[in-house]
Amino acid sequence: MTQPINYSTLPADLHPEALPAHVAVIMDGNGRWATQRGLPRVAGHRQGAKTVKDLLRCCQDWGIPVLTVYAFSTENWRRPMEEVGFLMRLFDRLLRRELAEMQRKGVRIQFLGDLSPLPHRLQDLMQEAMAVTCSNQRVQFNVAVNYGGRQELVAATRHIAQQVACGALSLEQVDEAALSRALLTYPLPDPDLLIRTSGEQRLSNFLPWQLTYTELYFTEVLWPDFDRAAFHQALQWYQQRQRRFGGLTPAPLAQGF
Ligand code: IPE
Ligand code: IPE
Ligand code: MG
Repeated sequence: MTQPINYSTLPADLHPEALPAHVAVIMDGNGRWATQRGLPRVAGHRQGAKTVKDLLRCCQDWGIPVLTVYAFSTENWRRPMEEVGFLMRLFDRLLRRELAEMQRKGVRIQFLGDLSPLPHRLQDLMQEAMAVTCSNQRVQFNVAVNYGGRQELVAATRHIAQQVACGALSLEQVDEAALSRALLTYPLPDPDLLIRTSGEQRLSNFLPWQLTYTELYFTEVLWPDFDRAAFHQALQWYQQRQRRFGGLTPAPLAQGF
């Protein structure tokens, strides 16, 4: 009989030297998870929050140094006010409840996106969480809230244009490195692996610049059901990829961080 896998440490069939240094996740399917159970959509968000908490712990346990999750897009304001309000309260509650634990575990939290339209109390809490954890080094946890990839590129372009206009940057210095520096993810490496749950196969305005050469993994599993076994499967799939970056010889799977 095969032994059940102990997920508290890296499963034995995964190569630690070939793990992604940066995993990005589009956490999708909370609403469908709840609807399938005859529950209100927000119950799916509540359960989804548990999933993200465990995925973060899993990254700590398995040695994945950067995790970026898409929690709220610039387009998600189109949802009913009650759902948006619930999500804001959920972020608030989670942050209050989890900050001490993240601090203890060496997690550095960062929010990516325009935080200015969020409730003031939540903005303050987010700023505090970023400040308190800023020197932690074990895992970098990025939460994209009111994030839009096109908006990020517009903001970066404006920033660069301003630098050129005031003479801080010459036109020749506007290159890929300059643009990367102007993005919210700077100085992190680009994601090696993107996971999107719930069967949808689109980016929904998530990290368009940074995902250019990322391995894309789509699974039918709904986000609240995405447990360590599902993450294990995604990493097994990742470790079978050949990353060539346009060349002919496979590049090492871990880009290093
Ligand atoms: C993802 O789940 C969570 C957020 C976008 C906040 P959804 O709420 O999009 O769930 P579905 O896609 O409606 O099932
Ligand atoms: C993408 O999911 C945004 C987040 C996961 C936060 P959506 O459910 O909003 O995406 P679409 O509308 O199906 O593209
Ligand atoms: Mg969705």
